[in-house]
Amino acid sequence: MAQQVQAVIAPGRNEPVRVETIVIPDPGPGEAVVKIQACGVCHTDLHYKQGGINDEFPFLLGHEAAGVVESVGEGVTDVAPGDFVILNWRAVCGQCRACLRGRPWYCFDTHNAKQKMTLLDGTELSPALGIGAFAEKTLVASGQCTKVDPEVAPEVAGLLGCGVMAGIGAAINTGQVGRGDSVAVIGCGGVGDAAIAGSRLAGAAKIIAVDIDDRKLETAKKMGATHTVNSRTSDPVEAIRALTDGNGADVVIEAVGRPDTYEQAFYARDLAGTVVLVGVPTPDMKLELPLLDVFGRGGSLKSSWYGDCLPSRDFPMLVDLHQQGRLDLAAFVTETIGLGDIEQAFARMHDGDVLRSVVVF
Ligand code: APR
Ligand code: ZN
Ligand code: ZN
Repeated sequence: MAQQVQAVIAPGRNEPVRVETIVIPDPGPGEAVVKIQACGVCHTDLHYKQGGINDEFPFLLGHEAAGVVESVGEGVTDVAPGDFVILNWRAVCGQCRACLRGRPWYCFDTHNAKQKMTLLDGTELSPALGIGAFAEKTLVASGQCTKVDPEVAPEVAGLLGCGVMAGIGAAINTGQVGRGDSVAVIGCGGVGDAAIAGSRLAGAAKIIAVDIDDRKLETAKKMGATHTVNSRTSDPVEAIRALTDGNGADVVIEAVGRPDTYEQAFYARDLAGTVVLVGVPTPDMKLELPLLDVFGRGGSLKSSWYGDCLPSRDFPMLVDLHQQGRLDLAAFVTETIGLGDIEQAFARMHDGDVLRSVVVF
């Protein structure tokens, strides 16, 4: 039986979000209905609302979520009703060239639920990042569900579904930060702070946080930064070099998504170092660098997509590390809120007041 639940909808470009009743179909083959327990508010939700991602309104917002599987469709064996899961953006096929080469985050044939959730009048909803979890329940592909330790707090677990995973993964998966490395992180919002936490986890000896906002640098210290640089008042490239015996950092993680900060990252790295771009640029942005400097400096330039994560490997591992007290994911939760508070949460996010507001059900 299809069921009706409360959910947060973005009805049209820049229109305020609304709490509405939506219809969730029974799960079909390969699908699962998940009862959401917590869902973080991410910049991407705001971008959907602003029409910055695509025009497929109305959107069902929310995508950093954890909850309990309520029911599964035909043929589903990977999860069962009662499982506590973190949701990810898309299920991977396991068979394409990317999957077979062990890089399933570049899978050619990802999928989400085939059936649509709708408004009461039958209007089809577009779920944010294939999830749509500012809702009491949502319909996903079963492969989007990853089982983790059910003892973890849902508001903490859900964050691994997007921004926190992106940052931690930029450090440990893409940047391959190792014991004793020096790391610089440019841009210390949720993603940059997670990159700092990931670098600490990986055993980095020096973690240099760079931001233009002193409040962000204070939080970065709590996440594990050993040094801070305000790039409004001092040159970050010189500062990072000075802090690394003139060499530059082994790994520099750009978590803003701008050409000028990318350029800083490029020149702040050790000659054999790695630059990781995890900040997401806009389509109009161009990078101009002397080709001779690209040639003359070794190392590698990488981008990190969803922290290059493999949810089935990384979500349970990071939850376990949190539960053991070795990674403080709770530090990313600034406040818990209700479904009706999303607009205020967007405003606070915009003002830089919160790392994460998390809707709890
Ligand atoms: N130099 C250094 N830091 C900067 C600069 C700059 N020129 N401009 C902005 N920042 C800082 C901000 O002060 C803030 O602390 O970058 C941080 C960005 O943080 P958020 O806006 O909270 O963004 P976040 O959620 O961390 O995402 C960062 O990664 O996933 C992508 O789309 C996301 O591009 C975004 C980036
Ligand atoms: Zn594949
Ligand atoms: Zn997100």
